[in-house]
Amino acid sequence: MTTSPAPQTLAAGPSPAHSAVFDARTDATLASLRRDGLYKHLRVIEGPMDATVRLRGPDGRFGEAVCFCSNNYLGLANHPEVIEAGQRALRDSGAGTASVRFICGTFTEHERVESAVARLMGTEAAYTFVSAWTANEALFPTLCEPGDLIVSDELNHACIIDSIRLATTIKKGLLKGVYRNNTLTGPGSLEEALAKGTASPEFKGQAWVVTDGVFSMEGSVADLPAMRRLCDRFGALLVVDDSHGHGVMGQRGRGTHEHWGMIDPPDGPAARSAPRVDLFTGTLGKALGGAAGGFIAGPRRAIELIVQRGRPTLFSNALPCTVAASAGKAVEILLREPQRVERLRDNVAYARGRIAAAGFEVLSSPTAICPIIVHDTARAIAMSARLLERGVYVIGFGYPVVPEGHARLRVQVSAAHTREHIDALADALRSL
Ligand SMILES: Cc1ncc(COP(=O)(O)O)c(C=O)c1O
Repeated sequence: MTTSPAPQTLAAGPSPAHSAVFDARTDATLASLRRDGLYKHLRVIEGPMDATVRLRGPDGRFGEAVCFCSNNYLGLANHPEVIEAGQRALRDSGAGTASVRFICGTFTEHERVESAVARLMGTEAAYTFVSAWTANEALFPTLCEPGDLIVSDELNHACIIDSIRLATTIKKGLLKGVYRNNTLTGPGSLEEALAKGTASPEFKGQAWVVTDGVFSMEGSVADLPAMRRLCDRFGALLVVDDSHGHGVMGQRGRGTHEHWGMIDPPDGPAARSAPRVDLFTGTLGKALGGAAGGFIAGPRRAIELIVQRGRPTLFSNALPCTVAASAGKAVEILLREPQRVERLRDNVAYARGRIAAAGFEVLSSPTAICPIIVHDTARAIAMSARLLERGVYVIGFGYPVVPEGHARLRVQVSAAHTREHIDALADALRSL
């Protein structure tokens, strides 16, 4: 018989030294965030995400505001069919998988949403994760090997940056390069980074190029056809995180690749005529139902390797069936109702016009992200507070989310908005 040691009692007295260090440094960081006006206050919503939300104000009471800061681009987060699909999955498949995918965590809801996503993206296969962050974190550390080269746009989302950091730590000898945002030729360009990286004596494997499809802070669009041509010249694979592009870009909302004509028609023959994106990552937490979840979509062999070797899927639970079912229904609605995308496009054009007419400079693009550059972080935050007093919910972003001096209000338009909602935004902006 073995005996376990007697439980130790915690000695009363002063905090241990390491706690004093942590407490002091954390208090200093939080104080500096408050002092510089950078402290984020979590705002509580009561009720569903929609064109308008019920927001708790400083007095503790809830009031209505038109929401221009969610990623609910198609207005599907509160769609009755999307809700019903989640409820049905809860009844049919329970609250959770209680397992990772490869043990006993793969359910019919996963199969369904993954085949819907592959159909939407026009790829052979797709595989889900609990978030797009996790999907990106799985991609490079799993698919890349020492001697490979990853070249990344400087404005790529934080999860791509962290995925590359992780990959280069796990796979020693993996090379990386960064190019200036959307700059494909000339100094600091993608072409230069590819030429330099592939000429390195340590480069012995596969080159990879990764970009956001839609840059979330700029609302600008990656030039995928030109990137494809460069990738072909250097034998590189092209990876696109289109988290802000699905449901938004292209005639049928299939994404930035559709916007550029880099996809065959849905259900049409796989002609492989269009220049291709090799791999996509994306989120189910924005246009596609807005709950949570992410995916990798691409060739079957890449997905197979992710299933076999991707640490975030081998060692972390599957996407809940409720969320998988809601997202699957959202994709189905998107494929069935392209008029939602058209409505979003009309709203975006109307909103850009009204913002400009209110006297503000808005960066132009076909995306649903309309940044109004105000430069100063404190000004962006103050403007956001004044808009909210007028019943319009828009977030101000400053350093470190965007570079110093580039603070902005980020207006995000939805198909759920009416003309009246957009007019309310313009009126509130004009009154500032
Ligand atoms: C380009 C991009 N990738 C990934 C993510 C992360 O998405 P998720 O919330 O599914 O982790 C975001 C979210 O803001 C994003 O904009």
